[in-house]
Amino acid sequence: MNDATMKGLTAVILAAGEGKRMRSRQPKVLHPMCGRPLIGYALRLGRAVADRLVLVVGKNADGVRAIAGADVRGVEQSERLGTGHAVLQAKPECGDGAIVVLAADMPLLQAETIERLVTHHRETGAAATILTAVVADPKGYGRVLRQGGRVTRIVEDRDATDDQKKIAEINTSIYCFEASRLWPALAQVKPDNDQGEYYLTDAIAILARAGARIEAVTVSDPTEAMGVNDRKQLAAAALIQRRRILDRLMFAGVTILDPDTTYIEDTVSIGADTVIYPQVLIEGASTIGSECIVASGCQISSTAIGDRVRLKPYCVLTESVVEDGAMLGPFCHLRPKAHVGPDAHIGNFVELKKTTMGRGSKANHLAYLGDATIGEDVNVGAGTITCNYDGFDKHETTIEDGAFVGTNSSLVAPITIGAGSYIGAGSTVTKDVPPDALVVERSPQVTKEGWAARWRAANVAKKAGKTKKEA
Ligand code: UD1
Ligand code: CA
Repeated sequence: MNDATMKGLTAVILAAGEGKRMRSRQPKVLHPMCGRPLIGYALRLGRAVADRLVLVVGKNADGVRAIAGADVRGVEQSERLGTGHAVLQAKPECGDGAIVVLAADMPLLQAETIERLVTHHRETGAAATILTAVVADPKGYGRVLRQGGRVTRIVEDRDATDDQKKIAEINTSIYCFEASRLWPALAQVKPDNDQGEYYLTDAIAILARAGARIEAVTVSDPTEAMGVNDRKQLAAAALIQRRRILDRLMFAGVTILDPDTTYIEDTVSIGADTVIYPQVLIEGASTIGSECIVASGCQISSTAIGDRVRLKPYCVLTESVVEDGAMLGPFCHLRPKAHVGPDAHIGNFVELKKTTMGRGSKANHLAYLGDATIGEDVNVGAGTITCNYDGFDKHETTIEDGAFVGTNSSLVAPITIGAGSYIGAGSTVTKDVPPDALVVERSPQVTKEGWAARWRAANVAKKAGKTKKEA
């Protein structure tokens, strides 16, 4: 990006729309698309191109303001009187020079396009420059009217004649205005139209009539100008954004075996030479290092994963950390605050919650490990359960380095299993185990030689006696 071009630029983001067509209790611009609220895309775009950001919100928009951040100047449009009225509310917060008007519900717009708009505006010395698009179906949009090639005005679909409706060049509702020309023109706009609104588009006609220079820049890819008004359009925009995210990752060296079935949010980063198998979902603030394998069916939410990690099929990871070289799954579950150390192994049907596994430790089959701190090179046998909950409180389990927890052990917390100790299979351990000890907690084995053979013989004889009597 050429920063010098964009110096002294104000971006006004219009976000006071009601978003009725979403049929939602939530403001439209807070609906997420690929991991960010719609307004997040507009703010990112504004920050990328301008050094001053003004956000126009409607009433009860605390949720929207909260996302905006301290660098954004918020203004309220308490009555929704039209796009011209909305921009006018921003006046006290705008700088001199160029003002770019952005919409909060056009998440696919690219910074390069806005840069092209502003650069053209500045190079031509225009009073206003409109971003237009040539579309196959212009229905519903304002049409761009020209005379001798020059833009003269914009006519809204509802006010257009049949001939005007045939015009394929539409107003995207993104503009660059010269502040000194915009404000006097806006002051002249009247709500004399079908909707009784103050149209920003009328400022264009007012300027053109006064002999000012109006320029237009046409987007090369009209999908960039796609607006989100309902949930169908939200899904359509998300589909395009999803492909953009995957393309970005592939250009950065990530192999994605089946882009059609891979859902990765905009907030995710992945290192080079990592391979993503079909039907994977990665969301939130997740990071994945390089040379990892993420097999089919994995769902990764806000989890930090190191390098050379192997996730076998169907791992569910939430708000956790997995360090370099670890191997997980198939079918494992990391609940929040699980921390799997370097080269550790977490196998099938193993669930971790608020549990740290040290370097090289293994829990390969069927275990629940909750509220536990597990050292290095620990072996957690199949079926091990940390009994962390007494019905009222959660208690901690500590398993020190090199301990060997036998199969089907219940560790009743709070408890510490000492370094290098052995827990015999099937033990229910309720007292701390000292380092290097063996603990076996189960009934001694009783062995009766020949008992089964005698028992069978007695029963066979009994049955034979019965059938004789019956006969
Ligand atoms: C507007 C344009 C139209 C263009 C279309 C592109 C006008 C009069 N028309 O029509 O030429 O083709 O966008 O999508 O501008 N807003 C406010 N306050 C208001 C009214 C609107 O903040 O009082 C915001 C909305 O939240 C939205 C944007 O302005 O982000 C556009 O408003 P909308 O009512 O959707 O305009 P359109 O009828 O779509
Ligand atoms: Ca609209």
